[in-house]
Amino acid sequence: MLILGIESSCDETAAAIMRDDNRLLANVVDSQIAVHAEYGGVVPEIASRKHLENIYPVVSKALADARVCLDDIDLLAVTVGPGLVGSLLVGLNFVKALTLIKKIPFVGVDHMAGHLLSVFLSKEPPQFPFVALIASGGHSSIFHVVNHTDFRLMGRTRDDAAGEAFDKVAKLLGLPYPGGPAIGKLAESGDAGAIAFPRSWLAKGSYDFSFSGLKTSVANHIHQLRADNTPLPVADICASFQEAVVDVLSAKTIQAGVDTGCRNIVVAGGVAANSRLRHAMRDASDKAGLSLAMPPVSFCTDNAAMICLAAFHHYRLHGSDALDLDVYSRSPHLM
Ligand SMILES: Nc1ncnc2c1ncn2[C@@H]1O[C@H](COP(=O)(O)OP(=O)(O)OP(=O)(O)O)[C@@H](O)[C@H]1O
Ligand SMILES: [Mg+2]
Repeated sequence: MLILGIESSCDETAAAIMRDDNRLLANVVDSQIAVHAEYGGVVPEIASRKHLENIYPVVSKALADARVCLDDIDLLAVTVGPGLVGSLLVGLNFVKALTLIKKIPFVGVDHMAGHLLSVFLSKEPPQFPFVALIASGGHSSIFHVVNHTDFRLMGRTRDDAAGEAFDKVAKLLGLPYPGGPAIGKLAESGDAGAIAFPRSWLAKGSYDFSFSGLKTSVANHIHQLRADNTPLPVADICASFQEAVVDVLSAKTIQAGVDTGCRNIVVAGGVAANSRLRHAMRDASDKAGLSLAMPPVSFCTDNAAMICLAAFHHYRLHGSDALDLDVYSRSPHLM
């Protein structure tokens, strides 16, 4: 079976072509980062206009890279939420048009299911069941993953997502958007123990997260230094902030693994591209005797390969979707 997947939930227009044995024949990601960078974040109206411009060339390139044509495609896959409604509609309507013209079945995919299954794009995928941390621009959630379609939410952020905290702290420091990669890079030359930023553990046994207090603490620290005319120790702030995020993400994920009796841990989503988080998760899993799997760095941020994967398993178990399927901005059950 050949699957054509499309992702347009935020600021990446992506298309991938995958075989049902997980072999990826094409993976095209057209990022709008340069367009939104001057505004310091994604502007929804611009994002949907850019998706409209990009979707046809991106899908055409994927077909050309895979050396196939639309008539070879057996299943269409598209992200239907959560995300920016105007952006999601571009992808969904494009796929609906293809379904109508080519009579190819389609499946609408939850973006979180895509991130959760992106780990199957790694050379060493995990065994079920596993506990997965999804740390991304809009989410910081821990799931108990029973199989390819059964995901049970154990905890989520009560305010900012981890990636959002990276982006906001980067903005405070005058670093470019998106903040995660910029902070990760600067943190390499900083001292993670230089500033004792707070860790929010919430109630004992809670798998929920909260990063807004940490963000406020970083903001207060920066304002104080600026008021005193003290040069900002940018690398130390980045390293100390990053360490506070990584400490909480890794400790709660490992605890969830231990508490559920799952022997396998997964970390995915854009923040899983962070090398300090990857190292810390490796150390913590080894110490707890758990096995860790992570998608390759290039599949942590948004891509359409993960959408193909999620669609295939949805189709296998539940069949295709109908043409009245709509998009949603917030996930009804996977937030
Ligand atoms: N190396 C890194 N270190 C830390 N954060 C990173 C790194 N690379 C990317 N990020 C963060 O990951 C986020 C983007 O991830 P992703 O594309 O999965 O998010 P999204 O699709 O916008 O949100 P969601 O998946 O929740 O809908 C951004 O907040 C970005 O700053
Ligand atoms: Mg994402």
